[in-house]
Amino acid sequence: MTQSTMIHHSPAWQKLAAHADEMRNVHLKSLFTEHSGRHARFTRRGVGLTLDLSKHRWRDETLAMLLELAREADLEGAIARLQNGERVNLSEDRPALHTALRLPPEASLVVEGEDVVPDVHETLARMQAMVEKCHAGQWRGATGRPITDVVNLGVGGSDLGPLMVTHALADYRPRDVHQVDIHFASTMDGSQLADYLTRFNPATTLFVLSSKSFTTIDTLSNASTARDWLMTRLADGGQDTEMSELVMRQHFIGVSAKPERMSEWGIDPRHQLRFWEWVGGRYSLWGAIGLPIALAVGMDNFRELLAGAHDMDRHFRETPLEDNLPVLLALAGIWNVNFLDVRAHSILPYDGRLEYFASYLEQLEMESNGKSVTNDGEITPYSTCPVLWGQLGPNAQHAFYQLLHQGTQAVECDFIAPVRRYDRVEDPATRAHLKAQHRLTLANCIAQSRVLMLGDEALPSDVPRPSHKRYRGNQPSTTLLLDRLTPRSLGALIALYEHKVFAQATLWDINPFDQWGVELGKQIASETEQILASRRGAETLDDSSRGLLDVVWQAQDG
Ligand code: F6P
Repeated sequence: MTQSTMIHHSPAWQKLAAHADEMRNVHLKSLFTEHSGRHARFTRRGVGLTLDLSKHRWRDETLAMLLELAREADLEGAIARLQNGERVNLSEDRPALHTALRLPPEASLVVEGEDVVPDVHETLARMQAMVEKCHAGQWRGATGRPITDVVNLGVGGSDLGPLMVTHALADYRPRDVHQVDIHFASTMDGSQLADYLTRFNPATTLFVLSSKSFTTIDTLSNASTARDWLMTRLADGGQDTEMSELVMRQHFIGVSAKPERMSEWGIDPRHQLRFWEWVGGRYSLWGAIGLPIALAVGMDNFRELLAGAHDMDRHFRETPLEDNLPVLLALAGIWNVNFLDVRAHSILPYDGRLEYFASYLEQLEMESNGKSVTNDGEITPYSTCPVLWGQLGPNAQHAFYQLLHQGTQAVECDFIAPVRRYDRVEDPATRAHLKAQHRLTLANCIAQSRVLMLGDEALPSDVPRPSHKRYRGNQPSTTLLLDRLTPRSLGALIALYEHKVFAQATLWDINPFDQWGVELGKQIASETEQILASRRGAETLDDSSRGLLDVVWQAQDG
């Protein structure tokens, strides 16, 4: 696309820009008094989710114009191209086929002459065999004892998805199997791993090395520390050849798109799980990278997670844009960012099981759409991904909600909550207490979005209030209710956001599947590490970096 054909020159964008001039001064609360039944008009249901978009600063005609914009960008065509396996990742010239990872076994998807579905299910079958072996207590460490702790070593997409889902579905751990605890270490400083190494028994600890590229220094340094720990404790520092071989075979599983690099590192080919270049790292939890999830909740629940995501894939592809949940979520975001100048977005789940959901979305949204160059290499003359952050809503109420209510920033918020909870708790008294806590949480969720919308008018009377007690309201929000938090609904929820990101990227004409912006930092860090270690070459650096290195060296010498 050239400058003149870019989306911000399209008729719908121009209409939206003019319309935004009118809407900018309209307070959200007044939109609720214009017509009754606003909730019903702006709420859609699908795939077990209820999406209430009524608390956005828009009217029916706004949505109609946004849908026109989506059609001008050929969003429907883009969705089909994505799911058909076309090379939608233009800068890396390959498809982005995370949706293929959740196709059912009877499906077929021929990509560049080859059906990818059999390979996907072969990997799932290999994962299943590993999971069943662990759950039967048959996966034994080098000394013959069954594995009790599994540590996933990975970072970014090789950590955040499995971590988030494992935590979210902790209530689904199978009870009648040999218990294996799942842990995650991602930080390159080794702090998480160091903690595990002081507590775990090397004879019963299995490491999963998760890295699409198998070159990520964060993961490889943790892996090498773990290998040394095992060798020292179990194989006489590598002197005992037989035990060394057993350690390498029984204590490491590798998950990567680069089998040759796994082999080079020493992972037994029988314990390697593969995925493909056409799966983006932050979209990869649905296949072999999801092994820690499957180990935690069992393969049946993992397949339910895939089924939920597949339900959402079909919804995204088959539902008209006006009722399409990911599309509507995307359009609300575009309206806020590009027309109302709302450039911050907070993710606020009202369920402790979704503790890591915001961190997961931080990577999904900002690594995907934190771009400023179009697919044709033009600088985007419009904003793209907002700054996105979040944490559990109830805890955030006691942390940063002050800014949402009375600060100077406009922030879009996503409130996310399951409607039903704790049905599986066996003891009736505990169940009653927990259900009361859930009711309290839902009340807070609904109340907070109401106050953010109405401001002071949420109060029953209009007693005059001093300015420091005033709430201006007018903060836009989405409320997303899940019937229950199950493997299936979680799969649908994650896929909802994946597709929202894709829909926004399509309208912004950017590539959500590359991440060139992180490469320079890696390269410079590697050069800096060499200087730090050798104490040579600092003169090539800037004054601040040189000064900081001096502080480190002096401290090390002192
Ligand atoms: O540095 C960014 C990144 O490439 C992410 O996109 C990715 O999820 C993460 O690093 C980990 O990469 P890998 O799975 O190749 O170790």
